[in-house]
Amino acid sequence: MRKKLVAANWKMNGSKALVQSLAEGLKAGLPSLENDVNIAIIPPALYIADVQRELAETQCGFGVQNIARWEQGAYTGEISSAMAADSGCGFALVGHSERRQLFGETDEAVADKVRQAMCHGLVAIVCVGETLEERNSGSANAVVAQQLQGCLQGVDGAQWKNIVVAYEPVWAIGTGKTATAKDAQAMHKHMRQLLAELGAPAEDITLLYGGSVKPDNAAELFAEPDIDGGLIGGASLNSDDFISICKSL
Ligand code: 13P
Repeated sequence: MRKKLVAANWKMNGSKALVQSLAEGLKAGLPSLENDVNIAIIPPALYIADVQRELAETQCGFGVQNIARWEQGAYTGEISSAMAADSGCGFALVGHSERRQLFGETDEAVADKVRQAMCHGLVAIVCVGETLEERNSGSANAVVAQQLQGCLQGVDGAQWKNIVVAYEPVWAIGTGKTATAKDAQAMHKHMRQLLAELGAPAEDITLLYGGSVKPDNAAELFAEPDIDGGLIGGASLNSDDFISICKSL
């Protein structure tokens, strides 16, 4: 059985005050979840310890939004996988489209980050997805195939259990435009086939959809057979909305 997962990517939002109020809202709402959803809260790194403290008695896991491609050393501003693991994080987002677009992150860099995450026992949530131009030109499947192959080369054996793939079409992120459930399902099915070709136990790998997931569209997306959960941006900054999305799984 694949694990179901809903991950909250707070991106570069928040403050101590927001952490406090979001955590209180989550703590109040979590007991109402009756499904077996796993939850990962991924705040800005500076607030991870605060979030962990506030949500210590809950089922939530925690993660970082990015990790270094290197083990340790003179890399000013970077956070290593070892540090994330040492700080009680179980998850690391890698290859988010914002990092690819704004910080020039390549598949090669993402592959290094995946390797680092594997070395330190983190679950890597590997993000892939095409731009609007790529979708309109009919190359979405090829783009995602190339990203998956580039980012996951070198993963093998027991490491696959620590791989989650998030399909986030770039044109759906923060835009209010969601992929239709059918289009998202088609891409997830394609990704599962690609993972099998890469030697992964594809049926066991958790695949997330991300891009303008909201309480009113989550259930339809999550009902698709190859969509095992969501990677939530904007809606994760409202605890009621986030809990409602978790309930939809
Ligand atoms: P939104 O849910 O705000 O579209 O963001 C999705 C995302 O990028 C999550 O990583």
